[in-house]
Amino acid sequence: MRTPLVAANFKMHAVPMAAFDSNSTYRTSTDVEVVVFPTALEVSACLHAQLVTGGQWGYHEAEGARTGDISMAQLAKAGCHYVLCGHSERREHYHETDELIAEQVIAALEAKLHPVICIGETAEQRKAGRAQQVIEKQLKNMPLSSNLTIAYEPIWAIGTGDSATPAQAEEMHAFIRSLLPADRQGETRILYGGSVNAENARALFAAENIDGGLVGSAALDPEEFRAIVAAAQK
Ligand code: PGA
Repeated sequence: MRTPLVAANFKMHAVPMAAFDSNSTYRTSTDVEVVVFPTALEVSACLHAQLVTGGQWGYHEAEGARTGDISMAQLAKAGCHYVLCGHSERREHYHETDELIAEQVIAALEAKLHPVICIGETAEQRKAGRAQQVIEKQLKNMPLSSNLTIAYEPIWAIGTGDSATPAQAEEMHAFIRSLLPADRQGETRILYGGSVNAENARALFAAENIDGGLVGSAALDPEEFRAIVAAAQK
């Protein structure tokens, strides 16, 4: 069965010092895989501390004249195992399109990175009854028969303290699973993200199709993160 995965997305914040401790809960255990996504500057410190580490973003070409960017190939060469693709903050602030994100996912797979594809609808799209349609479009050009992870992160729930209910999340996760090729439905992990915290994690992770979480704000607090990882233990 699917091993739960809890991912800490530190965004443009420093990695909490406690994460580097030898017994920190930011480390993978036998029951729960834990991955940290630090800024590019802290990737090597996390790798040095033997944390399972991913890049927050990667460019699809291996190298070139792209001032300020970092490539999938370079993340892999540094020792990263994972990469986030299509986080809603990248879609919003850098106008990343589904087509570009699909290129990133393909480049990540070619570089032997494990992509975590972030998808999610806005509050308006949900109100208009279009949430599933939006999700389907975001996944349309993705190589879903590959070994990858999907993170369902409704935009209205990210950083707002207003998480989806377990029922809302489970409904969408079951729908997302139904979009996967039959031979990938059992294995592919689908994470929930958007205001996961110590209080709501257990009920969210108990749902059949929720295989862990992508955690932003709450990952900055080691005690809160410890409770979230504990909640993922099946
Ligand atoms: P949040 O962020 O937990 O602060 O809502 C989640 C994310 O953006 O991945």
